[in-house]
Amino acid sequence: MRKKIVAGNWKMNKNLSEGLSLIEGIKSGLTAAHKGVDVIVSPPYVSLTEAVKAAAGSAVKVSAQNCHQEENGAYTGEISTGMIKAIGVEYVIIGHSERRQYFNENSASITKKINSALAKGLTPIYCNGEVKEERESGKHFEVVKRQMNDELFHLSAEEVKKVVIAYEPVWAIGTGLTASPEQAQEIHAYLRKLLTDKYGEAVAESISILYGGSCKPDNAKEIFSKKDVDGGLIGGAALKAEDFLAIIAAFN
Ligand code: PGA
Repeated sequence: MRKKIVAGNWKMNKNLSEGLSLIEGIKSGLTAAHKGVDVIVSPPYVSLTEAVKAAAGSAVKVSAQNCHQEENGAYTGEISTGMIKAIGVEYVIIGHSERRQYFNENSASITKKINSALAKGLTPIYCNGEVKEERESGKHFEVVKRQMNDELFHLSAEEVKKVVIAYEPVWAIGTGLTASPEQAQEIHAYLRKLLTDKYGEAVAESISILYGGSCKPDNAKEIFSKKDVDGGLIGGAALKAEDFLAIIAAFN
């Protein structure tokens, strides 16, 4: 059985006290309707330590939004996977399209970050997806195939099983445009086929593939009902406990 996961990506939103209130709101709103879903929040770096404390003993888990690939050293402004792991964080988002677009992340650095996260026992939430022009010219399958080949398929079967994949069509992120449930299913099934071809069916069937891109309370249910969609990576709608909880409940 694949894990069902709803992960909130807060991006550069919420200061420490706002973030802690949001975690409290999520914790107190979790009911039986949310059972069986792994719930993850990803606050900015400065709030991670307190977020781990606030989430302790609840169903909420904590993720970082990024990491650096080197262990230590002269990399001003950067945070290593070892530092993230040391404060009790369990996940790290890697390869988000905003990092690719604004911070020059590429396949080489993404590969190293994934390796570093796995070496420290963090679960990478690895993001991929095509931009608008690529979708419009029908290149989306080709694009995600290249990303999977260049960024993930260097891993062994044992390693890749520890990764969560998030398919995030860039044209749908923060735009209010969403992939239709059919478009999401089509790509998710394709990603799983690529995993099957590379690692075999048992491995491919064990990996959770999340959808991200304007996923909201009103469209989550239909998207999550698709066979190969195992949850969502949620941006805007993760910033309000009520919306985030409604998305988690969409699994039922
Ligand atoms: P969005 O962001 O839900 O605001 O579109 C998703 C993401 O970037 O992970």
